Amino acid sequence: MSQRKLRVLILCHESLVPPPGHEQMSEAEREDIRTESDVLATCEALGHEVRVVGLYDELLPLRRAIDEFQPHVAVNLLEEFQGLTVYDHNVVSYLELMRVPYTGCNPRGLVLGRDKAVSKKILSYHRIPVPAFATFRRGRKIRPPKHLPYPVIVKSLTEDASVGIAQASVVHTPDKLIERVEFIHRNVKTPAIAEQYIDGREVYVGVLGDRRLTVLTPWELFLDKLPADAPKIATRRAKWDRAYQERHDIYSGPALDLGEETQRVLERRAKRIYRALNLSGYARLDFRIDGKGEAWFLEANPNPELASDAEMAYSANASGMTYAQLIARILSLGQRSLEL
Ligand SMILES: Nc1ncnc2c1ncn2[C@@H]1O[C@H](COP(=O)(O)OP(=O)(O)O)[C@@H](O)[C@H]1O
Ligand SMILES: [Mg+2]
Repeated sequence: MSQRKLRVLILCHESLVPPPGHEQMSEAEREDIRTESDVLATCEALGHEVRVVGLYDELLPLRRAIDEFQPHVAVNLLEEFQGLTVYDHNVVSYLELMRVPYTGCNPRGLVLGRDKAVSKKILSYHRIPVPAFATFRRGRKIRPPKHLPYPVIVKSLTEDASVGIAQASVVHTPDKLIERVEFIHRNVKTPAIAEQYIDGREVYVGVLGDRRLTVLTPWELFLDKLPADAPKIATRRAKWDRAYQERHDIYSGPALDLGEETQRVLERRAKRIYRALNLSGYARLDFRIDGKGEAWFLEANPNPELASDAEMAYSANASGMTYAQLIARILSLGQRSLEL
């Protein structure tokens, strides 16, 4: 781990730049900027010289910050450009063109990880269990495929953070599938994917590294207290609405009692997935573990949320890594990102 004092440039959305005194703000005020505030405070506490540049739809502020500040490493907390999440990789490509080392995933991995169909196609080549699926472009007639076993879950092909996911996403008939695909097209404005619904435990696996990989303690989201007739899925509300989480006793913790074999398979599988999708830096891989202990890949999240109270940090803690150690490791991986 590098102890050298670095010039660290944090990239984030322009509306999420922590204001002066952000560390003293109340939890409610800090809610939207927890990641940015935690990472900024921690980089400073590690002794680095830190600047933040807020971006929205213009690269000039980044160009200026690079020229003036000459950062040793850019910390990429930006998840979109011009409000479009599918453009996230372009900003990282720009950092590469400017020869600025950066934290998190490289642009090739971001593209492969974001597309929930492309990632599954690659992984099925590697014989990793993935749900059967079909995709639906916008502006085409929606034909429910015959090969999909119901129930099926309908999602955005490319969005993350459970955007467009509600109880109604799980459908039991072709008619309902069409309705939900139309809903995604109309409201999320991306292509849709319909996947075989995997009933089981929801487990997230954090991975850090480039050549040598560290797999963190599997982290489980407990959804079993949701109403009996509700599908046990991480809907938008389950993921983000604190009152809803309290009402339904939704919480997360280490995934215990997976069994030795499942535990071992999960760890090996997480590494294979990370490599097959060309990921780097840090990522969180989402799995569902069915009643037989089989770990099905749901999706990859390169550059997952880095707040000190998000799954990535919690599972790092459970693996014996403090939050500051996690950020330090991510910074040192970032420093050599251009050498991969
Ligand atoms: N094939 C599936 N089977 C069962 N549950 C699923 C499936 N796909 C998604 N889910 C549920 O929906 C949630 C969000 O889906 P996910 O693919 O992870 O999208 P996002 O990128 O929005 O996180 C998952 O955490 C899981 O609870
Ligand atoms: Mg997910």
